[in-house]
This record gives sequence, structure tokens and C-alpha cells, in this order.
Amino acid sequence: MKTILITGASSGIGAATARHFQAQGWNVVATMRRPDSAGDLAELDNVRVARMDVTDPGSIKDAVAAGIDRFGRIDVLLNNAGYGAYGALEAFSMERIRRQFDTNVIGLMEVTKAVLPHMRKNRAGTIINISSIGGQITFPLGTLYHGTKFAVEGLSEALHYELEPLGIRVRIVEPGMIKTNFGGRSFDFAMDEDLQDYAPMADAMGRLFGKLASNPSSPETVADVIWAAANETGDRLRFRAGADAVDLLDRRKAQDDATFIGGLKQLMQD
Ligand SMILES: NC(=O)c1ccc[n+]([C@@H]2O[C@H](COP(=O)([O-])OP(=O)(O)OC[C@H]3O[C@@H](n4cnc5c(N)ncnc54)[C@H](OP(=O)(O)O)[C@@H]3O)[C@@H](O)[C@H]2O)c1
Repeated sequence: MKTILITGASSGIGAATARHFQAQGWNVVATMRRPDSAGDLAELDNVRVARMDVTDPGSIKDAVAAGIDRFGRIDVLLNNAGYGAYGALEAFSMERIRRQFDTNVIGLMEVTKAVLPHMRKNRAGTIINISSIGGQITFPLGTLYHGTKFAVEGLSEALHYELEPLGIRVRIVEPGMIKTNFGGRSFDFAMDEDLQDYAPMADAMGRLFGKLASNPSSPETVADVIWAAANETGDRLRFRAGADAVDLLDRRKAQDDATFIGGLKQLMQD
């Protein structure tokens, strides 16, 4: 029986993936900042809920140890925990900037480092990193969020070289617009009344998001793609999730910078 450890399993993509793998007969180490937010996930067979804040090194160590202790092995690590900081760079304090990178990038690397000795000993394992369409393309006022997701893309691709010879796979999952708490409590929008110069761009961003997010996919759609990535036996690195992700990233590949970005700017108009 295989085991997956998931970060950010309290809601959205992480919670849907925990349920999907459990239903397929896997063991699930469902980690989250507040274990009391697990709901009935905690009652399911072969699910171990463990506290983990990806910015708290002690909690990472303890949760990984608890997972290995309970199930004997971790086959797949899903680095999913993350949130979106949007707004003008000038509107963010350095503390808020660091929090975004600490969560989406440094936390992901710290959890990966905590699991790697175990996978290296086993000469087996898969690390699945949740990136985004926003790891390949950018939206206005997304300096922070896209900075983190482009980092996730680059670090994952680079990491795969050193792990592949050791039997450990790296997969990148790129969801499009997904119906979760991401646009709600996981959206850290910075506003500064003194920075009115950026107000027109905030309006443009609102128009663009309104158009792109008009038909979001379900978190279960992403869970299906994560399932495929976990069971892939070849060396495929990237997996898109959602029809919008396939369409946008195909267009990104087919077009040069000016053409693609010009198309997005058109969508920002009324
Ligand atoms: N929704 C989208 O449109 C979309 C698109 C592309 C990529 N993504 C990516 O998908 C991932 C999951 O997001 P989601 O859409 O499922 O949103 P979500 O429902 O808001 O879930 C975000 C999860 O991350 C957790 N989290 C945040 N900071 C954390 C920390 N310091 N330590 C541990 N967990 C932390 C949250 O925990 P709490 O419950 O404790 O807050 C929550 O479980 C993120 O990496 C996001 O960037 C989302």
C-alpha cells in the first residue's frame, strides 16, 4: 500500500487530493496548520492528520516523522501549501514579501529536504510540486505570487537532475483557475491609499481575472491530474490541470512574448 504526504490538506486542492488518494486505497498523511480543520477527513481509514506549518521547521520534522512512523514509508510528497499575494510591489512590506516566499518557496524546499533522506534510502519516491499557470505566465500586480511560482518551476526542473539517478521523480503540476479558497482567505491583496498611481492597474487586473476566472475548474480536476502525475512511470516533468491551463499554456508556447502579453493586455480593456 502506497503513502502520500500532502501539505496544506485542510482545504481546496490539498483536501480533494487527500480524499482522492484515500479512495484509491492509499495511505494519506494529511498535514495542515490547524488539524482541527480536517473535518471528517480525520475519520477516514488510513488517513493520519498531522500538524504542519511549512514556515515552522519543527512542525515539518515532526509531521514527516509521524507519517513514516505510522505508515512505514512515504512514496509521494505533494508540496501544495501556498497562497497568493497580489498588489503593487511598493504596497508590500518586506515582512509580507518574505512571508509569501517563505510559504510558497522556502517552505516547499524545507519539506522536500525533510523527506529526501527517506526517499534516497528507499531509492524511490515522487515529489509533486504545485506550481500554477502563473509559473509560466504572469498577471498584473502579481510580482510576488508569480515570483514564487516561477521559482517553483525553476527549482523543480533543476532538482530533477540530481534526484532522477537516485530513483526519485520530480513532477510539476500547473493548475489553471480552480474553485477553492485561493481567491478568498488565501488571497493576500496589498492596497495602499497613498499609491493611487497603481489604481488603474488594479482595475485592469480585476477585468482580466473576471474574464479568465469565469469558468473555474474543480479541485477534484486537479486531484485527478496529481493522481496521474503520481502514477506516471516515464520521465514527464510537467502536468497541466484544467482546460484553461491547457489553452493558455499552449498559446504561451506558440507565441512570442510581445504577442502573448499583448493578448493579455487586450483582455484587461473594458
Ligand atoms: N485555486 C487556484 O486557482 C490555483 C491555481 C493555481 C495554483 N494554485 C495553487 O494551489 C495550491 C493550493 O491552493 P488552493 O487553490 O487549494 O487554495 P486553498 O483552498 O486556499 O488552500 C491553500 C492551502 O494552503 C495552506 N497553507 C497556507 N499557508 C500555509 C503554511 N504556512 N503552512 C501550511 N499550509 C499552509 C492553507 O492552510 P490553512 O487552511 O491553514 O490556511 C490551505 O490548506 C497553492 O499552492 C496555490 O498557489 C491554486
